[in-house]
Amino acid sequence: MTVLQHVEAGTYYVVEMPEPDDFEFWRERARALVQCDVPPDRIAWIEPGGSGDLFAHGERRSPMPEEGARPVRANRRFVSLAKNAILHSDPDRFALLYRLLWRLQSSPRIMEDKADPDVRRMEELDKNVRRDSHKMHAFVRFRLIEEESEDGELREHYVAWFEPEHHILRANAGFFMRRFANMHWSILTPQGSLHWDTDTMREGPPAERSNAPGGDPMEDLWRSYYASIFNPARLKIGAMLKEMPRKYWKNMPEAALIPELVAGAQKRESTMVEAGTLEFEERPETLAAIDRAIHACRKCPIGELDNQAVMGEGPRDAALMIVGEQPGDQEDQAGKPFVGPAGQLLDQHLERAGIDRGSAYVTNTVKHFKYVQRGKRRLHQSPGAKEIDTCRWWIESERAIVQPRLVLAMGASAARGMLGKTVSISKARGAPIPLEDGSELWITAHPSYLLRLDGAARDEQSRLFDADLAAVRERLEELQA
Ligand code: URA
Repeated sequence: MTVLQHVEAGTYYVVEMPEPDDFEFWRERARALVQCDVPPDRIAWIEPGGSGDLFAHGERRSPMPEEGARPVRANRRFVSLAKNAILHSDPDRFALLYRLLWRLQSSPRIMEDKADPDVRRMEELDKNVRRDSHKMHAFVRFRLIEEESEDGELREHYVAWFEPEHHILRANAGFFMRRFANMHWSILTPQGSLHWDTDTMREGPPAERSNAPGGDPMEDLWRSYYASIFNPARLKIGAMLKEMPRKYWKNMPEAALIPELVAGAQKRESTMVEAGTLEFEERPETLAAIDRAIHACRKCPIGELDNQAVMGEGPRDAALMIVGEQPGDQEDQAGKPFVGPAGQLLDQHLERAGIDRGSAYVTNTVKHFKYVQRGKRRLHQSPGAKEIDTCRWWIESERAIVQPRLVLAMGASAARGMLGKTVSISKARGAPIPLEDGSELWITAHPSYLLRLDGAARDEQSRLFDADLAAVRERLEELQA
């Protein structure tokens, strides 16, 4: 008997999902259906709570694949996108994923086809879900309540209300657990709730906004802090709404201050301009806009030297961002990053590690070349902490646009540019540092450092550099699988 004979002609299968984010359940069912050759148009995938009544005559039992049925093919990229895309609120997502899995059996390279409508839709779902998680990380605000514990002690409990667009609550439990490991907290949402007691995570039922506390003295503190950092020169209502949609404002104590701050903004801005402390304008939204802006940037004395700003280069959606310190003499003349001796050494090591430089976005922490003139020569000077901190605005803006999965910071200046604090390269290298947007930072030495060494010290540092790059390549493959 062939596998095909196993599925009765005309049978219509109905799969009722127990949870909207249950990838494992979907995977198990999808695998059996593919192995039994059930085409996508013979399956109705039903959301929990969705109406399966329309398919009352459909077969609810999963078909049983034959012993020795051929294994289901799914490459790592499909699986990693599918795990995220399934969290999307689009009711058609289960069917879309099945259709792609089905097509993968005869076209194993389909995930590489950027023009394929199913692949594009899956990538879009993945992106929307990642954005929703990012917003959750940024906009969940805990409010303090004091409650009595079982042993009669008063204890602090932090409660947040949040309305995600997609089914991301469970998937983000780990993030909040790690970040607030020592607090008792609850996150309430219309889809369900999470409760952490410093030891165990519990899931609870959906909640309503009125279940969450409305305000507390901590919020006053937060509000005054927010008022003090509110920068009227950055006030662009459209951009603010985009970054922090109104939907999230209502949960954020500082949002209560916004009308007041907006009213006072113009006055404060003119005072700041007079005092010479006008801050950066709103974040540029394209790489071309950053390029224009850095050429005009004179926020620190380096921009006043006889040099030109050097913009990062590489694909706008690169998974890897490589960050150096600042352009050198040759980069300044060419207007391109890493084209001089450090760049050539970097290229050799990247090649050895199997990293294609052309697929990475390569940039610098400080955008202008800092130097002192000695006769005809311009000698490199390291940027100071203040200059790096001022220039961080640009690298952050580049990251917001490119959204790399992994950032490789080379040298102490790049590490500071990424983290806002000084770290020791020898301690920080070799392991990922999670960043707030879900990407990872890896830190290594700067190739110019290798160029300054010789003999055994150079060999040793080259070996360490190679090892860091090899780890980055491996991790990137995992992240992109
Ligand atoms: N060193 C850097 O950090 N960046 C360059 O672009 C060149 C040398």
